[in-house]
Amino acid sequence: MNLPYTLVQGAYIVAGLLFILALSGLSRHETARMGNRFGIAGMAIALIVTILAATIGQEASGLQIGGESGWVGLAWIVPAMVVAAALGIRVARRVEMTQMPELIAILHSFVGLAAVLVGWNSSYEHDVAYLKVHDVEVFVGVFIGAVTFTGSIVAYLKLSARIKSAPLMLPARHLLNLGVIVGFVVMTVLYAAIPHDNLFARQSLLGLMTLLALLLGLHLVASIGGGDMPVVVSMLNSYSGWAAAAAGFLLGNDLLIITGALVGSSGAYLSYIMCKAMNRSFISVIAGGFGVEAGTSVAGADYGEHREITAAGAAALLDQARDVIITPGYGMATAQAQYAVADLTRRLRERGVNVRFGIHPVAGRLPGHMNVLLAEAKVPYDVVLEMDEVNDDFATTDVVLVIGANDTVNPAAIDEPGSPIAGMPVLHVWDAKDVIIFKRSMATGYAGVQNPLFFKENSQMLFGDAKARVEDIIAAL
Ligand code: TAP
Repeated sequence: MNLPYTLVQGAYIVAGLLFILALSGLSRHETARMGNRFGIAGMAIALIVTILAATIGQEASGLQIGGESGWVGLAWIVPAMVVAAALGIRVARRVEMTQMPELIAILHSFVGLAAVLVGWNSSYEHDVAYLKVHDVEVFVGVFIGAVTFTGSIVAYLKLSARIKSAPLMLPARHLLNLGVIVGFVVMTVLYAAIPHDNLFARQSLLGLMTLLALLLGLHLVASIGGGDMPVVVSMLNSYSGWAAAAAGFLLGNDLLIITGALVGSSGAYLSYIMCKAMNRSFISVIAGGFGVEAGTSVAGADYGEHREITAAGAAALLDQARDVIITPGYGMATAQAQYAVADLTRRLRERGVNVRFGIHPVAGRLPGHMNVLLAEAKVPYDVVLEMDEVNDDFATTDVVLVIGANDTVNPAAIDEPGSPIAGMPVLHVWDAKDVIIFKRSMATGYAGVQNPLFFKENSQMLFGDAKARVEDIIAAL
């Protein structure tokens, strides 16, 4: 018995629609959970139907396995899925929110590797009718997959601080990248031109191209500086989508093409939003930092003395305040301070203080990182505002609480053209009457740049773990 073609295609259309609903749900806090459920349902349908069709066969099948050989395939797939699911559940349970970006990066590398393997596997098929098109598909699939694979591994190593986040600046690095891309195009044409019975020449060419693409992925991400990593995360997300779409073409699976294209285009759009937020050119970032020269370090600059404040002193300032803005950053995530911050917010609001949050688009280590944490702690959505919505209000604000943020509140982005973060829009917290900065030391943030905010006359440092210090303030209020 074969599965009817219309049933399989119908199920794919339903799954595709569920993925579109998932993306639309995920774009707003209020609907994000629902979006996730749509995504899970779509993926469940996709998996069940694809595995069924591949196992028992499909009428007018575009799939490459089916019937008897499908049962053999199933005997491989099920144990692999069980092991992978067990590993996935274990990792997802253990992962800290702060480790999410690196987890995502390594997951992207799996998609890239899968596309490479599918491409190589497909390169051994010679009975396909549309040979030349198929050859090009193999080359494109393996190329995108290999770039995604090594690029994601470098991103994983950088995000988890296993290697330095400073950009690798090889001489003539743009020429190297360009050379590989031109080489890829030439090799694709050659590959399609070599007769199919010359397996050695074909596979050698494919091997050479795979190696060059692996090196390109490595080099592209290694040349991007720490401050631009948000764009890299979303860009690799996009690449992984295109890699999946390429694998979809090779496997003749329409749903994989649709899903890959959805991930690829939404990732590209997210990269564009990230670039806008950081005032970076999209092209320059995806081309491996094209046009970005090594910034002059301001680490040694003398900004004067910083002042310190105690939790009791901070409570006294808040006691007098009418308008308060909280700007959280990565330190709030590491300290898991969101619940204490939500509690402080509630208490201040009960006293009639106008408390709002100013969220920088790249605060933390993930797009929307702070929004997720604050939603988790049940901070009302209507007081959580974007950077552009609050930036003009700091001048009329009594107290700003900078909780574990650093690069996103650094005036050097405006005042120091040589700084690695120059040009990145930042929260103008220094315009407020008083600024209290919660952090454990005078250490720099993710971009490794000193922050002149800490030395301004209206700034005071509240040293220690952010969660403990916020709890101290609550006790003192
Ligand atoms: P960061 O510049 O990363 O600074 C975080 C600060 O938190 C540090 O200065 C650290 O100082 C402090 N901190 C750490 N643990 C703490 C704790 N337990 N209690 C109190 N403070 C603590 O933060 P940001 O302002 O959120 O900026 C984000 C940066 O990450 C940007 O450079 C951005 O480009 C980059 N990035 C963002 C993303 C996305 S998509 N959001 C992805 C990758 C990279 P101490 O060590 O002195 O405590």
